[in-house]
Amino acid sequence: MQKQSETDRALDRKYPEQVVIVTTRSPKGTANAMAAGWVTIASGDPLMFVLVIDHGAYTYELINRTRQFVVAFPSDRMGKAVLHVGSHHGRGRDKLAECGLATQKASRVAAPLIADAVANFECELVNVYKPGDCPLVVGRVIAAHENRDAKVRRLYTVGPGHAMGGVRNAGKAVRPKA
Ligand SMILES: Cc1cc2nc3c(=O)[nH]c(=O)nc-3n(C[C@H](O)[C@H](O)[C@H](O)COP(=O)(O)O)c2cc1C
Repeated sequence: MQKQSETDRALDRKYPEQVVIVTTRSPKGTANAMAAGWVTIASGDPLMFVLVIDHGAYTYELINRTRQFVVAFPSDRMGKAVLHVGSHHGRGRDKLAECGLATQKASRVAAPLIADAVANFECELVNVYKPGDCPLVVGRVIAAHENRDAKVRRLYTVGPGHAMGGVRNAGKAVRPKA
């Protein structure tokens, strides 16, 4: 049974929500990273992601300037690092070094991979759309990388107020009949 509610209150029931780290590199060579929870696949073939990124984020400026970025799936050990890159503006600082996230050279873009992430996707900018108060950034995946350790699991936002953690009930999953 449903009861009519305030929008914010109903939206607080959406968790867990996936979170990604978006990395970029400035034309001067400094890497940056932010957390993004508003993200999904926008196309399967070719594979594209859509990120919802605030106009004021340094990441938004760097994506528009360089037309490149990396979408990394953080591991469930990266909660503190995700909160760090997700709560500080990157201009004039090195958030990746500050939070101790190891990086790795990407193959096609200048932005770095997150070395211990679950997976990384190198993207080139396709377009930016502005349907509401936050730009939608669509990127085409041009190279992908996965962690060699299959036991490394993804991090999620598990509750309101940026509560970060893993989700481990795969054994109880309901699956479609073969
Ligand atoms: C868990 C989490 C999810 C976030 N999701 C988004 C998002 O989807 N879009 C966005 O613009 N900012 C999001 N943020 C906030 C940005 O990561 C934050 O504004 C960051 O400081 C921007 O960094 P930059 O200015 O260096 O690009 C999120 C923060 C956290 C902690």
